[in-house]
Amino acid sequence: MITNKQTPTGFEYIEIQNKSATAQIALQGGHLFHYQQTRKKPLLWLSEKSMFETGKAIRGGIPLCWPWFGKHPTDTDLPQHGFARISPFELLESNEPNEHTTELLLQLQSSTQTLALWPYQFQLRLRITIGPRLTVALTTRNCDTESFSITSALHSYFPVSYISYASVEGLDQTMYWDALTGETKTQQGTIRISGEVDRVYEKTTNPLLLLDRERTFQIIPEGSASAVVWNPWKEKSMKMADMEDDAYNSMLCIETANAREDARRLAPGEEHTLQVTINESD
Ligand code: BG6
Repeated sequence: MITNKQTPTGFEYIEIQNKSATAQIALQGGHLFHYQQTRKKPLLWLSEKSMFETGKAIRGGIPLCWPWFGKHPTDTDLPQHGFARISPFELLESNEPNEHTTELLLQLQSSTQTLALWPYQFQLRLRITIGPRLTVALTTRNCDTESFSITSALHSYFPVSYISYASVEGLDQTMYWDALTGETKTQQGTIRISGEVDRVYEKTTNPLLLLDRERTFQIIPEGSASAVVWNPWKEKSMKMADMEDDAYNSMLCIETANAREDARRLAPGEEHTLQVTINESD
């Protein structure tokens, strides 16, 4: 079942229910902010203080960072993580191919508003498949007469029972850029979080595992050769208006990305798809 809904403040979203899962997707940003497999707990983290307001990104779920990841490379007045996550998407198609699967296709196209922020004609299509697993695929098409480069991320927020119990596997011996120090380092073994972490792992296409006390999430990237791991820890959480002070204890971002050296250059007419499949193993 696919239902159009609104929050009490008029923020529009789509609710999906099928035999395998439920999900909620905001039209602003094509932002999936809830996904839950039947008889399991939610698979994505959503801040209790998240703002559902026009022009503000939702804190949780899977925000789309596009067409730049992080700060704009030359103009820091432009929105962090690009404008896709705060732009209105349109729903092009919705299908229910079977009782267990629902597919949505959403789109953002270049407009006078986007051209003022980024001077290229584009088509951005987001295909979300809600089933026993979640797949999110973001396809950029260059509709301009010039080539352009994009950096991007499917900025997935995962819930953890307690951050100290969480670990991430699949990045052993991978080089990463530490955004907190500007240094490049090599990951030794499993990632564990005991303080603020903001890293771009480079040249990795590995599936990743997030292990918590009783839960294991699989994160399977496609069209991505970089992964971001982020936890703001205490001081930054306290400074963020849309996060509870202790929220860093219950979340970890593992982002399927095209960041830094993994920027993608598209010639006119070319397309690139960044995709993640997320699943909780039994
Ligand atoms: C991460 C970045 O992807 O997103 C961090 O690596 C950033 O540097 C974080 O702080 C959250 O960004 P925002 O804009 O959603 O607060």
